Amino acid sequence: MATIAPQRPEVRSSPTAYEALTKHFEEHPEQRLQHTHKWDVSRSDIYYENTWQPIFKEMREAGPLHYIEDSPFGPYWAVVQHKAIQHIEALPEIFSSSWEYGGITILNRLTEEELAESGVDRRELPMFIAMDRPQHTGQRRTVAPKFTPSGMAEMEGEIRQRTGELLDSLPRGEVFDWVDKVSIELTTGMLAILFGFPWEDRRLLTFWSDWSGDTELASVRELDEMRWGFLHEMGAYFQSLWVERTMDKEPGDDLISMMIHSEAMNQMRPEEFMGNLVLLIVGGNDTTRNSMSGIIYQLDKNPDQRKKFEQNPDLIPNAVQEILRMQTPLAHMRRTCTEDTEVFGKQIKKGDKVVLWYLSANRDEQVFENPDKLDIERENARRHIAFGYGIHRCVGARLAELQLRVLLEELHKRRMRVHVAGDIERVRANFVHGFRKLEVEITEF
Ligand code: HEM
Repeated sequence: MATIAPQRPEVRSSPTAYEALTKHFEEHPEQRLQHTHKWDVSRSDIYYENTWQPIFKEMREAGPLHYIEDSPFGPYWAVVQHKAIQHIEALPEIFSSSWEYGGITILNRLTEEELAESGVDRRELPMFIAMDRPQHTGQRRTVAPKFTPSGMAEMEGEIRQRTGELLDSLPRGEVFDWVDKVSIELTTGMLAILFGFPWEDRRLLTFWSDWSGDTELASVRELDEMRWGFLHEMGAYFQSLWVERTMDKEPGDDLISMMIHSEAMNQMRPEEFMGNLVLLIVGGNDTTRNSMSGIIYQLDKNPDQRKKFEQNPDLIPNAVQEILRMQTPLAHMRRTCTEDTEVFGKQIKKGDKVVLWYLSANRDEQVFENPDKLDIERENARRHIAFGYGIHRCVGARLAELQLRVLLEELHKRRMRVHVAGDIERVRANFVHGFRKLEVEITEF
């Protein structure tokens, strides 16, 4: 397949969003977002320092949801119990995902004046994750067939082969970064297969995803401008792939070709098509990557559970669910209330921002016994809501589960034991929940 070069020569030498943000705040510590409310869980330091657990526990003990009147992202409802999140997600008409109200993260949408004032084009690309019914239903249908059990069975061979080759190439007797060498590599590889994305450019997927998922970036004007610049470049790159695929005589079985040739495409505007592609790239990227790092971190921290995994590979499918529960790669999703309503005794007003903290729900002691402990035999591990719930539940969940299962199976086949053997650095963000760096060493069992 011919590669269409994107018009972005400077990007490869540009810093990642994380590096740029870290440098900016080192130079201007006074500009860090200020959080005064003791339950303002939008503060990213608690995820970076891994100290969020007791805060959410205290909040869950006090009730299913709480109004946080003061935060740098404005006032919001923090929904912290499992049953309350399911209740709200089951009412998508009242609790909207639409970007017109504010979309799906805690970040506020720019006002018309802010947009007009802005130096760069910051118009949101429309994506079905940030749409309500009926548009959501039609657009989700264009991609869902790729993720059916039979669709997954078709991809399994290639995923298994790439995973095995990568594991065989890893250094022995030396410490290396699992995030860079394995989690990023496998995730970008999988996305490249899914989209028929040019293999040699696959690291761009990581670069773009890094610039898109950080809510604090928006607080620094120049970085936010860079962010929009990169997101538009990503759009332009995908547009070139799209044009290439529309010219193919025989439609391929990659996701882009599938979308082009689907019936619903006829009703989709070009920017909606682009938005949905971007959604799939970003949605499948940090999330799967951080689950792959979570596997290693959790098994290393729980040697009793690692032993069970090593002795009994039949536990792998349940272990995948339990690791997803413990990691919860997306800490929250946001909704906006469309009419005055009552939820578990609290009055929620039209226009209120409602933030669903999956991270807390997955540690809810009313659902999971001894919730902070990894238990790969946990009977109800599947009840985690790391993939959300209701009409927006993750469309890529089966693919993510497949990749994680294959990774554990291939590790087991090779009798590889991965120890954490150096630095652990977490992501400083309130949305993506995971690892920047996880230094490990491989031995055998
Ligand atoms: C939606 C998590 C992997 C594509 C979501 C949502 C969550 C989530 C929490 C929102 C659910 C809600 O609002 O109720 C995850 C996690 C993953 C993962 C934890 C990995 C462990 C993937 C993959 C893809 C993907 C591999 C595709 C390649 C999407 C899309 C949506 C979505 C397109 C929007 C669904 C809709 O609005 O109907 N995901 N995801 N995700 N995810 Fe994932």
